[in-house]
Amino acid sequence: MKEYVMNPNKALWEKGDFTRIAANMRESGDSLVASLGITRGMKVLDLGCGDGTTALPAARLGAEVLGVDVAANLVAAGNDRARAEGLANCRFQEGDASDLKDLADTSFDLVVSIFGAMFAPRPQDVAREMVRVTRPGGRIVMGNWIPNDPTLVAQILKISAAYSPPPPEGFVSPMTWGIEDTVAERFVGAGIARDRVSFARDTYAFNHAGPPSGLVDAFRTYYGPTMNAFEAAQKEGRADSLHQELNALFNAQNASGRSDTTSIPATFLRVTVNV
Ligand SMILES: C[S@@+](CC[C@H](N)C(=O)[O-])C[C@H]1O[C@@H](n2cnc3c(N)ncnc32)[C@H](O)[C@@H]1O
Repeated sequence: MKEYVMNPNKALWEKGDFTRIAANMRESGDSLVASLGITRGMKVLDLGCGDGTTALPAARLGAEVLGVDVAANLVAAGNDRARAEGLANCRFQEGDASDLKDLADTSFDLVVSIFGAMFAPRPQDVAREMVRVTRPGGRIVMGNWIPNDPTLVAQILKISAAYSPPPPEGFVSPMTWGIEDTVAERFVGAGIARDRVSFARDTYAFNHAGPPSGLVDAFRTYYGPTMNAFEAAQKEGRADSLHQELNALFNAQNASGRSDTTSIPATFLRVTVNV
């Protein structure tokens, strides 16, 4: 309990069970990893790895993968998944993207962080740590949600914020990692030349074997930021209104062409840093 008071970031992600959301994101994790040019023996750090949506496919390609996440429950889930698949080249440990104190300088060929490090506090420290642990000639690839983007996750976070109390003074929104100039500045601040940072728009799909309302329920029950929004809304008697807004959003964005199956594409900013 004491640690929860000290680290609200960790508490947020341990609160729910992100494995229940990640289960809907595996196909996109596989496709993204397939695009990274991973070769056998490559040393890969997956930062904010969750239960291994990108770490496991990287290990299947023969990389030596370390997954680091602030949430103990997700680290355990990742290790269980790797063990169940017999992937001895994939392990998970606890750590904080703002301070990777257990990781040596220049120890990875590739640092991947898909909707992970963007949620850590002190973004300038995060950029510096990612650069520090990447070897010269190596790469950093981040996937970050984009503020005010009309697609799913930016809208979930925007709707949720409207039902939540204002963040504490000095809080830097994770969504700032979706703004190209801000991201470039952070890496320049970490010693990287501006022309070594590049950007592209990419898409992740949320695929759920049921109607969109089932996916809304998964977010309400298992996704820390949405759980918090519902708790705050409940206190003001507005939980039903939040539920309705999310149901409308998920239904409007369902691209499956059927009402009993869900497939929702979400746009993100893909950041590549050549270290
Ligand atoms: C939206 S989930 C994405 C997980 C995973 N990358 C995936 O694609 O399924 C965000 C993840 O970032 C992790 N995270 C949040 N803050 C972190 C921090 N300070 N250091 C490391 N991981 C963090 C959370 O625990 C969670 O697993």
